[in-house]
Amino acid sequence: MARIEIEGGRTLEGTVEVSGAKNAVLPILMASLLTDQPCRLAGVPHLKDVTTTIELLGQMGVEISLGEGFEVGMDASHLSTQIAPYELVKTMRASILVLGPLLARAGEAQVSLPGGCAIGARPVNLHLKGLAAMGAEIDVDSGYIHAKAKRLKGARVVMEGVTVTGTENILMAATLAEGQTIIENAAQEPEVVDLAECLIQMGAKISGHGSTRIVVDGVDALAGYDHRVIPDRIEAGTFLVGAAMTGGRVKLVNVRPDTLDAVVDKLREAGAKISEGPDWIELDMAGKRPKAVNISTAPYPGFPTDMQAQFTALNAVADGTGVVTETVFENRFMHILELQRLGADMQIEGNTVIIRGRDRLTAAPMMATDLRASACLVLAGLVAEGTSVVDRVYHIDRGYENIEEKLGQLGAVIRRLPVS
Ligand code: EPZ
Repeated sequence: MARIEIEGGRTLEGTVEVSGAKNAVLPILMASLLTDQPCRLAGVPHLKDVTTTIELLGQMGVEISLGEGFEVGMDASHLSTQIAPYELVKTMRASILVLGPLLARAGEAQVSLPGGCAIGARPVNLHLKGLAAMGAEIDVDSGYIHAKAKRLKGARVVMEGVTVTGTENILMAATLAEGQTIIENAAQEPEVVDLAECLIQMGAKISGHGSTRIVVDGVDALAGYDHRVIPDRIEAGTFLVGAAMTGGRVKLVNVRPDTLDAVVDKLREAGAKISEGPDWIELDMAGKRPKAVNISTAPYPGFPTDMQAQFTALNAVADGTGVVTETVFENRFMHILELQRLGADMQIEGNTVIIRGRDRLTAAPMMATDLRASACLVLAGLVAEGTSVVDRVYHIDRGYENIEEKLGQLGAVIRRLPVS
């Protein structure tokens, strides 16, 4: 298993460029299935989930070309199959995002049910309910979703719960449906907005994206797109937390500060001085120890669940007691058990963890369990005295492009160990 070794006690200083947003790239790559025209996406990060998506689309018959700087070209004019097989879907749950586009473009899809994962059961019932409301016939049999629809019909879809990929699946399906679709209680994440902007460039008629009510007037066909993906707000937030934990000063470029308000508010509460420009953000901790902060995760624009683990690491070394509540996923505290191995004083009570900050942590071997948890363990290794090792970092490679190079650029002493 891949492992990363981190030497504690360094301060993060300097400038680093943020990569394109994984959670915008995945749906936008899938959106190429909606058209027989060529599509091009720029600013794509080198991530395991991206290569998995490219593999998935490729085996469906999408012609893929890779340009320099990792631009991806797609041509879905000749789809050979509408199947998303278990072997691929089990490695990346977001494969479910082919369902809406395939139904809209080809009138049928067979997608393996994505299993659960470390952070929760991750059902897709709301995706299926929304597509059924648009006239899709949906069967679930032997672990596969079989969906059919001559032509989807626009409908008013009231989402029982806020779901990012559920909103994205229904949004993509609605672009080619007959008539108008209204998505109530839609997810407002910036990644949903970036997908919608891309679909509009393709000729889709969409309004309200970024609000809880999205209105789509279906069209008969869509053109291709030539789009650059938005920067990754979670990668950006992760580096800002690292700077705050180590008392450093870090400037991030290729950032959308307007997508980080809830995170920046909490970092300011922790004592960080933060300045922002149109596409950059700088955090200066001036050598101070962060103050503990209370967090409660919520759908955007609330505090992002994908930043929860990183802030538990900050609270572990902060001055004071911080209370962190996870309201989005039912099992997203696996990293707490690992942080306790470093000496962190943490008490889990249901979906809340009470963290009494310590002025020192001690290095220890740790095990990553999911993408954002693994980033949190690397951050903890930056401050723990001694040399920590994080195992199973294939999780981290799913969502962070060259994390050890980028942290190394900021002064961290971090290296990937040969696979044992
Ligand atoms: C997206 O996952 C992100 N992934 C996740 O990022 C992120 O944590 C999550 O949104 C929440 O912000 C991608 O965009 C590829 P949800 P998604 O549907 O869409 C329940 C990362 O680290 N739910 O918004 O799968 C669900 O169980 C990943 O990059 C249903 O009950 O999340 C959860 O409790 C991790 N039924 C809640 O809703 C459904 O049909 C929110 O899930 C769908 C969801």
